[in-house]
Amino acid sequence: MQNAEIQRWLAARREQGLYRQEQQVQTLPGGLLNSNGALFVNFSGNDYLGLGEAPLLRQAMADAALADGVASTGSPLITGYQPAHAELIATLRDWLGVEDVLLFSSGFAANQAMLSALVGPDDLLLLDRYCHASMQDLLTSGQRSFKRYPHQDLTALAAMLQQSGIKNQDVVVATEGVFSMDGDVTDCAAILHLLTAKQPLLLDDAHGIGVLGSEGRGSWAAHGVQVSALQCLMANFGKALAGQGGFLAGSRDVIDFIRQQSRHYIYSTALSPALCRAMQSSVLLCRAEQWRREKLADNIALFRQLARQAGLGIADSMTAIQPVLCADNTSAMRWSNALKERGIWLHAIRPPTVPQARLRISLSASHSELQIRQLVQVLVQTQPVTAQNHTTTIPES
Ligand SMILES: Cc1ncc(COP(=O)(O)O)c(C=O)c1O
Repeated sequence: MQNAEIQRWLAARREQGLYRQEQQVQTLPGGLLNSNGALFVNFSGNDYLGLGEAPLLRQAMADAALADGVASTGSPLITGYQPAHAELIATLRDWLGVEDVLLFSSGFAANQAMLSALVGPDDLLLLDRYCHASMQDLLTSGQRSFKRYPHQDLTALAAMLQQSGIKNQDVVVATEGVFSMDGDVTDCAAILHLLTAKQPLLLDDAHGIGVLGSEGRGSWAAHGVQVSALQCLMANFGKALAGQGGFLAGSRDVIDFIRQQSRHYIYSTALSPALCRAMQSSVLLCRAEQWRREKLADNIALFRQLARQAGLGIADSMTAIQPVLCADNTSAMRWSNALKERGIWLHAIRPPTVPQARLRISLSASHSELQIRQLVQVLVQTQPVTAQNHTTTIPES
């Protein structure tokens, strides 16, 4: 592409209110962050359990950096599979009750590996239309047949499954356990009820792991589903587990099949051994410290109660992700800026990431009751007149 064309594209992006830019911040204990010397309460992070602040986790990373090193020095099939990787995998297997696990440098890579391997060239992939970009990307490559069903619409999914049955087409279904921008939880048990034993279900539980189900195993566990009912589970370390990287979990055969094929696995440097040790500590803390899930649940309940009392339009989400829809991109940006002026860090999420601009409130066990009260008060005080005030349904794109 010519440079002049690039400049025109960037200028148009700014004009449409869609220009994206990093903002340098430093996250601090107590649900806070520092930006340019000013303190804010952080309602945009994904550290749902507050594990990122846990001294034990930080210590585990520091100790492991000295003991095991920072560099994995290679891809997992060359020199990048070390004791720290093997022990993290054993910890994950024990926690989730799965036969095997493959580690990836990100959840994005893990999702791509899962779909590329498990959706065969003759299969039809049925995908919730709000699934994360890492799942949608494979579809745009044109190498797989797919259909998107309307968000959480199991009647539509059932109709698609019936049609594929008539055409004798092999089907794979993929969805998220907790939708990242809407916070609603998928009823995996109900989806499995629609599927035959020959129709695999792939689940991205990036926002369910650590938070839902017994010992935080995830959204599938919260619905009483056995992990073996999923063909493959994807989750990551970057949200409730307060680290970085992702993994796929499943039967020995399924994981081995992905290991043999995945370009994201074979041709990419393995996770740092220090990070693996830290993530092992994080999983152990997450399992043991039920109080973190209880504190998060209390914060969610308090936020929803105060928001309702204040007449603030909130979505139906019962998870840490609480979206507030905005009329358009500009009003979302204005609202977010007004919140910042009052000490609240709450990012506006805009198309194309979501069909409709919104403030995506992210609650954490590290927030205090006072901070939640402050959030609702300031949201009400700064609410633009144009903002939609009733967001129980989120329209299709
Ligand atoms: C639902 C979902 N899946 C996958 C990912 C990608 O995970 P990672 O950030 O570890 O690459 C994200 C992260 O934004 C996500 O929200």
